[in-house]
Order: sequence, then C-alpha cells, then structure tokens
Amino acid sequence: MGSFVLLLASILASWTLLSREPRVHALEDGVAKLPVLGYNTWNAYGCGISEAAVLSDAHMLVSLGLRDVGYTHVNIDDCYAEKNRSASGDIVASAARFPSGMNNLTDQIHALNMCYSDSGWYTCAHYPVTPHSFLTLHDRDAKLFQDWGFDYLKFDNCAIPYDDIIRQGIVGKYERIATAIAQLAQDTGKPPLILSLCEWGNEQPWLWAKRFGQSWRTTGDINTSWGSITSIINQNSFITWASDFFGHNDMDMVCADPSTSSGNSGITHEEAKTHFTAWALMKSPLLIGTNLSAISQDNLSILKNQEILAINQDPVVGTSVSPFRWGINPNWVSNSTHPAQYWSGESQNGTVFMLINTLSKPADMFFSLTESPWIRAGRQYAVRDLWTHTDNGTAIRNFTAKAVPAHGVVALLLTDAGDEPPSSGPPCAVLQWCMDKNGTLAPGA
Ligand code: GLA
Repeated sequence: MGSFVLLLASILASWTLLSREPRVHALEDGVAKLPVLGYNTWNAYGCGISEAAVLSDAHMLVSLGLRDVGYTHVNIDDCYAEKNRSASGDIVASAARFPSGMNNLTDQIHALNMCYSDSGWYTCAHYPVTPHSFLTLHDRDAKLFQDWGFDYLKFDNCAIPYDDIIRQGIVGKYERIATAIAQLAQDTGKPPLILSLCEWGNEQPWLWAKRFGQSWRTTGDINTSWGSITSIINQNSFITWASDFFGHNDMDMVCADPSTSSGNSGITHEEAKTHFTAWALMKSPLLIGTNLSAISQDNLSILKNQEILAINQDPVVGTSVSPFRWGINPNWVSNSTHPAQYWSGESQNGTVFMLINTLSKPADMFFSLTESPWIRAGRQYAVRDLWTHTDNGTAIRNFTAKAVPAHGVVALLLTDAGDEPPSSGPPCAVLQWCMDKNGTLAPGA
C-alpha cells in the first residue's frame, strides 16, 4: 500500500508539473512535418485484416507505383489484437490474424508503420487499448508499439469513461500519451512515434491537439458518397488555419475508388477528383482506404497526380488553401451539401487556386484574381492547370473556368509573370475602391 501511495503521489506530482507548462506550439520534434501519405486497412477490411492482406497491400503500394509518389506508410487499424492482455499486462497481437507476429511483419515491410490504440476502455471494435486511469499503461503500450517496429500511433476515442476523463480536462486526457511518447524517444534515442489523434472533432482539437500530436481527425468517419465528402469539406473550411508543418487537420481516409470502399454509395470520376484535390490542398494526411487489389486505373491515376501531391508535400509552405469566397452561399455560411467553392493558398511555386462546382450541373466559375489575398494587383500570372497538366496562358485581373463539370474541381497554380500590359483596362481591377488623390472614384467606378 505504501508504494502504491508513493507511485500515485509521484504521478500526481509530475502531472501537476506538466500541467503548469503546457506546450503551446506544434510538436516540432522532427517527425511528420508534412502530412503522412500511405494506406490504412480500416475502410477496405474493417476487422477482416490479416497478415497476408497487409503484406499484399504493402507490396501493391510498390507495384502500383504508389510508394514512388510518396505513399510510404502502411497503417493497421483496429482488430489487430487479442481480446485480452497478457498476464504481464501487454497487448497481444492476434494469433489468428498475425500468426508470424508483429516484428516479422514490420521487418518485412520497411516503414510499415502504425499501431492503433484508443483512450477509452476498448477500441471501437472492442479490442484492448491504452486505458486512461491514473495507473496508466501508456508507457508500456508506447514501448510495445515501438518494440513491434511501428512508428505511428493512432489514438482513438471509443468507450470513453466520459466524466472521469473530462475531470482531467481535454489537455490532461491526451498529455499522458504524448508524454509517454516523448519519454520513450528520450530513453531509446529513436524518433518519437507519430501521434494521430482521433476524437472526430468532438472537442475542437484544432485548438489544442498540436501540443500533443501531428494530426487530429476533424470529423466523423467518411463513407464514399458525395454527401460525406461535401460535409467534411464544409466543416474543414472553417478551420483551415489550424494546419501547418507538424500539425494537420485529418479529414479521414481517401476512399477514391467508388467500386471498393466500404460504406460506399457511389461517387463519380469528377467527385473522386474533387475529394482527392480538397484533401491534398487542405494538407490532410492522405491515407488510402481502398482495397488496392481491386483499384481501378482511373482512381489510381487520381491518387498519383504528382502536381497535386507536390502541393500537399510542399517542404517550404505548410499552410492549407482557404476559401476566399463561398460562391453560391453568402460567405461564412455552413452548408454541408454546398460548401465553399472558391479557395486559394500559398505554395513554394506560386498561388494555388481550387474551384469546386458544388452544383449538380456544369457551371462557369469566375473570380477576380485579387479576391485571393496572395495575388498582387497590377501583375499578370501564368496559369498552370494541375489536372490537365498544361500551361494555359496568362491571367490578367480575372479568370473564368469554363464548364466545370457537376461536382468537379479545377486546381490551378498561378505564378507571377510580371507587370500587366498597359492596355489592361481601367486603373484598378476593383473599381469601387480605386480612389484618385483628389477624392473622386476612378472613371467607371
Ligand atoms: C473509429 C475511427 C475509424 C476506425 C475505427 C476502428 O470509428 O474513427 O477511423 O479507426 O474506429 O474501429
């Protein structure tokens, strides 16, 4: 009893100490500066995972050319464990699903990477987790995951003893696992496990989660339907400011293939392009949630668009695109079926534009260049189309994307091409703000 009290007291003491010095910046500890690219088993297999399936998908990442464009992480989601811990308290890998053991698997796949845990009583599929009590198993579990050869930990949110957790505050809830990971890295000299928080946006993780991990889910589980995709885009359109290097809004899996993803009610080719473009340019992790053995060539080529991936993986500019105009809604209106349509952001090579036609019929999409804060007035811009992979001339003052297909997307990279020609029209592109020093508006305003 005496040692129990001592242990409890020392845990409380270190907890108090930690609480006084919260980390307020992104975890710039060297891992996951950029969004993680890879594969996750959940949407394709659910609990039907096996060693053979994981190995097969890892090999397919290579043979399909996905690894070579950046998808290097193979993440095992729920249901990898036995239902009970060992006598000594460790999580035990499922003998039926992973008969050769986790180390054998991770040895075979370099950069195989994830292990899944949860902060409640059990995972969403009722498997053992890292429980949140004072006598924690966080250190033990983090060490086991690292010993198994994993370098990424997804920390889920099912089966939470709600008031016991909330009594510690949301910071307290996650500080233990983050501290266990930091301590483990210090003790072993190995890079810290990447921590992927998954509480579905319930507690506004964009406000605090970057203290603890490198990504945080912002929404519930995706299914491959246009309604699910627009709803996630809509919710994320209000929090784009939260993503930057070492900390990313996680919009959930990329389920680009209508024919194979679970929960699928069908998406079109154009919708799959919009889905992938929005996730990539909003700097979400890109975790493929499709069964690779059945992936279509069409969707493979969407996932391999290297000009889009280059923006997601920009090593110089970490920020997301953000809406500059909502389009068919008044600005700042939440509309889960018709999210913001006009977006822009910075990149190392120029200004990125994303136009989403949320209507169910083709539409021309027009904008003045200086509606984007990243564009300079009085300049002309070379236009690169990131889907047709063509240079489309020069934009002066405005741009019209003609006949954007229903639910389709346009992704452009605009680079400064010098002063606009003298014949470009009235003195200012936005006349109502164009004032002469004598106090009169410009002609035509
Ligand atoms: C939750 C998560 C999913 C997946 C499942 C596994 O629903 O949001 O991404 O990890 O749990 O049970």
